[in-house]
This record gives sequence, C-alpha cells and structure tokens, in this order.
Amino acid sequence: MTDAAMEFVTPLTFQALSGHSVHSKLLDSDEENAMGHINLARWADEIIIAPASANSIAKFAHGIADDLLSTVVLATQCKVTLAPSMNQAMWLNLAVQENITALRARGMVILNPEHGSQACGETGPGRMVEPGHICQEILQTEVGPLSGVSVLISAGPTREPIDPVRYITNRSSGKMGYALAEMAKSAGADVTLVSGPVALVPPAGVKLLAVETAQQMYEQVLDCSANANIYIGSAAVADYSPIAEENKIKKDGANKTLLLLKTRDILASVAESNDALFTVGFAAETEHLEAYAKDKLARKKVDMVAANWVGRADGGFDKENNAVTVYWRGGQQDFPMTAKRHLAQQLIKLIAQHYYEKN
Ligand code: C5P
Repeated sequence: MTDAAMEFVTPLTFQALSGHSVHSKLLDSDEENAMGHINLARWADEIIIAPASANSIAKFAHGIADDLLSTVVLATQCKVTLAPSMNQAMWLNLAVQENITALRARGMVILNPEHGSQACGETGPGRMVEPGHICQEILQTEVGPLSGVSVLISAGPTREPIDPVRYITNRSSGKMGYALAEMAKSAGADVTLVSGPVALVPPAGVKLLAVETAQQMYEQVLDCSANANIYIGSAAVADYSPIAEENKIKKDGANKTLLLLKTRDILASVAESNDALFTVGFAAETEHLEAYAKDKLARKKVDMVAANWVGRADGGFDKENNAVTVYWRGGQQDFPMTAKRHLAQQLIKLIAQHYYEKN
C-alpha cells in the first residue's frame, strides 16, 4: 500500500480481509513481516496496481523509486498490469497519456479506465475497470482459447482526402472492431489492430497500427497478414476514393464533379494471398442482408461473414449495441441485439471454434 492508499483504507483492513500481511514501507527493517523490496520484486509472478494514480504512473514512466511500490515496480522483471483511476481531465491530460504510451511501449499492460460518473462529480473516462475485469485479464491472458494464435483486426472508417483540408468518410465508430480486439486479447490471442481514425482508446495489450486511407489500411493489413492466423475485417473501408488535389479547392460559381476511383478490396486480397488464414468479413447492409452476405462469402472467398443492418435506429454504425447473423459455408447463427462488447465476446468464441475446425 502506498501512503495515499493508506489515507483511504487502513492496512489492518486489507490484512484482515486478505489474510496476508501488508507491505507499505521501503526502509523499515523492524517491520514484523519485513521482506526487502528486491525480494518482493523477485517473488511476484505478476504485479497488478489497482487503482493506479496519475502520480504512480508518472513515477513508473520516469523510473522514480521513492516508495515501496515504485521501487518494487522498478526492480521487478515480471508482468506489470495497471488499472488507472483518476479524474477524467487528469486521465486525458497529455502528460498522463504520454506516460501511458511510454509504459505500454515498455510492455506494461494498461487496463484503460471506463467512462462514467466520477467521485469528484464529473463524467468522463477515469473510472477504474471493474475488479472482475481485472481478474479476467489476469486469468485468461495466458490460457484462453486463442492463446498462441495471432489475430489481425481492421477497425473504424477510412478517410479519403479530396484536398489538404477535406475528406470523404463514413459513420463507422470503430467500436465493434475495438471490442473484438479486446475480446480476442482476453481469449489469449496476440492481437494487432489496424485502425482508421476513431475516438477510442486501444484495448490493453493490443498492438495498434493507426492508418488513415483505404490504401494505407490495405498496405498495413497485407503486410501483417503474412504472420497472422485469423483476419477479422471489421473496418468500414471506403469503396471509392477521390484523386486528392494538392491545394485547397477554391469555390467559384460552378458546380463541381468528383471523380471517384475504386479502392482495392482488402478482405478479398488477404483471403486470396494467404490460404491458411481464417478470414472473417463484415457486411453492413440496408437491404437484402442475407443475399448480400452470402454473395460476399462466395465472392471474397472468406470463411465467415458477420452481417448486420445499418441505418436503423437501434444498432449498427456508431451505436453501443449491435445484432448480427453470421454466415459460413453450410451454416449460420443469429446473435440478437446486445452491447458490442458482449457481442464481440460471442463472436470471438464462434470464430475460435471454426478456426480450430479448419486447422
Ligand atoms: O463489399 P463490402 O464493402 O460490403 O464488404 C464489406 C467487407 O469487406 C468488410 O469486412 C470490409 O472490411 C471489407 N472491405 C475491404 N476492402 C474494401 C471494402 C470492403 O476489406 N475496399
């Protein structure tokens, strides 16, 4: 326990509830249960810091060791997981975000805080993830159904420039793809997420490759697909892209025409280029859902297509919930309307099952 933690809860409470001794002092050889900080650092299989304050995060990022916790973290070689919790403005502050990015790059697992109402009366991201989620992360990471499997996911919209200040995009929020990445990760997979521009924080432990245009997404996905076992194409890739003007288009009295060139189909190219890859596509339709989904399954030669209605009030693009029907050769399954994270969990389970059947 840090000094700040002991302002909230006494060590005696933790000791009584856990049945274990509580360590709090860096240099106190008289402490009854004294175990040196180096011994503690060596002894741990994994360190979970929950809640992790902005101050502790800054210390870890900069190698400061001025109390027991920061010293143990500096001295350990085991996996370190942080569950940050703080005021939303503090969490969004660039100083904290830069520290988080640095720690993630060094291999720490960061369980991003959730969005909601906070003790300080504000609303925003900063609430510590639920303890159950932390336990799930710890227990599933190593032994989940997809451990040892590399999963590549594309998510979000693409942005096709018209000129240096304008672009064409779509309503995709990336929420479905990010939820799939989170659930694949907690199923033990090694996850790479190629993402178009979205306003989402990447899930803990996932390798994020940010792209903007359909062409950039094509290049990144093709590049990564050689080492992947499963590809899930949940991105809403632009089908057409304008030839970008070098300078800003000036207005004049006349109407304008944009010439749109067909982009390359990432999903079809990936499925074509790597036979061993298990490929999953998405079909977002406003009509003829089943026929279009089955057509995609055959035409793009993919293993599965998850089809959903879009442009409706209750789910789909930029919504919290979604419902899909998944089609594969010889079968289909309906997944009723539910939160995207829950849907993602069910989809990952189904994908894992079919992946193993294929291999
Ligand atoms: O044909 P349609 O665009 O409806 O197919 C959607 C599926 O194809 C999605 O999985 C999407 O990620 C993928 N796609 C792609 N490259 C494109 C267009 C769509 O990978 N250029």
